[in-house]
Amino acid sequence: MKFATEIEKRRTFAIISHPDAGKTTLTEKLLLFGGAIQTAGAVKNNKIKKTATSDFMEIEKQRGISVATSVMAFEYNGKQVNILDTPGHKDFAEDTYRTLTAVDSVILVIDCANGVEAQTERLMEVCRMRKTPVIIFINKMDREGRDPFDLLDELESMLKIKVRPLSWPIGIGATFKGVYNIFRKQLNLFAASKTKIAQEIVSINDIQSNEIDELVGDEAAGLLREELHLIEGVYDEFDVKNYLSGDVAPVFFGSAVNNFGVKELLEAFLEISPSPRGRETDAGFIEPQADEFSGFVFKIHANLDPKHRDRIAFLRVVSGRFERNHFYHQVRLDKNFKFANPTSFMAQDKSVIDEAYPGDVVGLYDTGNFKIGDTLTEQSNFSFKGIPSFSPEIFMELENRDPLKSKQLEKGIEQLTDEGVAQLFVQQPGNRKIVGTVGQLQFEVIKYRLENEYGATCEFTPKRFYKACWMTSTNQQQLDQFIRAKTIYIAQDKDKNPVFLAETPFLLQMAQQDYKDITFHFTSDFKVGKN
Ligand code: G4P
Repeated sequence: MKFATEIEKRRTFAIISHPDAGKTTLTEKLLLFGGAIQTAGAVKNNKIKKTATSDFMEIEKQRGISVATSVMAFEYNGKQVNILDTPGHKDFAEDTYRTLTAVDSVILVIDCANGVEAQTERLMEVCRMRKTPVIIFINKMDREGRDPFDLLDELESMLKIKVRPLSWPIGIGATFKGVYNIFRKQLNLFAASKTKIAQEIVSINDIQSNEIDELVGDEAAGLLREELHLIEGVYDEFDVKNYLSGDVAPVFFGSAVNNFGVKELLEAFLEISPSPRGRETDAGFIEPQADEFSGFVFKIHANLDPKHRDRIAFLRVVSGRFERNHFYHQVRLDKNFKFANPTSFMAQDKSVIDEAYPGDVVGLYDTGNFKIGDTLTEQSNFSFKGIPSFSPEIFMELENRDPLKSKQLEKGIEQLTDEGVAQLFVQQPGNRKIVGTVGQLQFEVIKYRLENEYGATCEFTPKRFYKACWMTSTNQQQLDQFIRAKTIYIAQDKDKNPVFLAETPFLLQMAQQDYKDITFHFTSDFKVGKN
């Protein structure tokens, strides 16, 4: 019984946004509500400013901060809330995509003036692929922004998801007076406060009540009634099932920096969001309630001290109970490991834990045995599916600059790509190493870390590739023929899968036309991937 209660009370999610929409601010306010921190400003901004592109100390600081804030946990209303941090910088987007495999739902933050931005679209695409339930928080309502109805239309058309407002703003910017909480049928009045979390809440269950006119003025009250009427006409009644299946995203309005609308968001979130879900494996679906412990590694973080090459592997517990000092089976290596100091990350503090439950994230000290995507079980041999690699966007060939250090370079690049800093594709003949990333910044990180941690010097030469495409086909003969014909554009990924490095969209299109039995994928997660 206790085990089932432990699972039911957990909520593991991520807050995602385009940089600057207010992810850090909202995270901080949630931590304030949960009592995990006492003052605003305690959460460091986990992002590298644009000017820091070549500032290595900044990169190192960023790595430090992101370990410290990897998981922020607190209790609220009897629920155990686990917020998984995602990097703010777009060059680390791949890291964010992987973290999304470890959560059960997300809160997506939108700036009310900017609406849907580039990074919002890409993050949402990953959520859609995985059918992750999404709640949208439209932030910065204290500033002049766009019309709420226009914003909702834009969300639906650009993010390809149905939306359903569960709160509604009364005015915007200078005229912003508060939000009407549709979910609770409550009027919340706006009192800007950057430091306090208290606010005046007046409960009005009848939207026709004169009290609303008295509180916000006749004009605003009239408009609110009209708009609520329109909402009821345009949007279907909110059904939590459609949210849980990833088909409808409930929308809340507020102002994170002023602590407004945050409590409503948090409480509604805790009420409707899913408790830890199971995950698909190559031997079927594993439910969190299963007796046997299992989990997977979704993130690896190198030690900040270059003298110690140990790392922290972040494991999401999927089923059963994880215990300290207990032997667990690492499926890929077919080896058993015991963890003396498994760590939880509560806001800024690290602490050793004795046990963990489904939905929890445990930091495991690792000396190089883990790769992203690895499965840990009690004894079974199944592997979790779906830590996808996405096609990189920038490709460079890695060249060794110091022949005496080639072993160090090999080892360094192997370990850094195990951590997921970048993807490695090896081309024959000559074992040429093509490194692929989503952002320029990673190349600087790699160069810096190879020098500082492995004593190897390298150079990068740009390669003009458009995409790396994984391939599947029911016609093995055609696939073999393609691989032979395109040798100079074929490389192997880390798992020895052949990958087609397409130079241009046109050349990819030609390949698709000429080899009709081959499917080209932009992610390595073929089952849910799309072309
Ligand atoms: P991010 O993590 O998504 O990148 O965004 P972050 O929370 O850092 O917020 C970006 C900027 O937007 C910050 O201002 C923050 O104070 C501001 N902000 C967040 N929520 C609101 C809101 O509800 N209303 C208004 N008006 N501003 C908001 P900054 O100037 O970049 O930093 P700071 O000096 O204020 O910390």
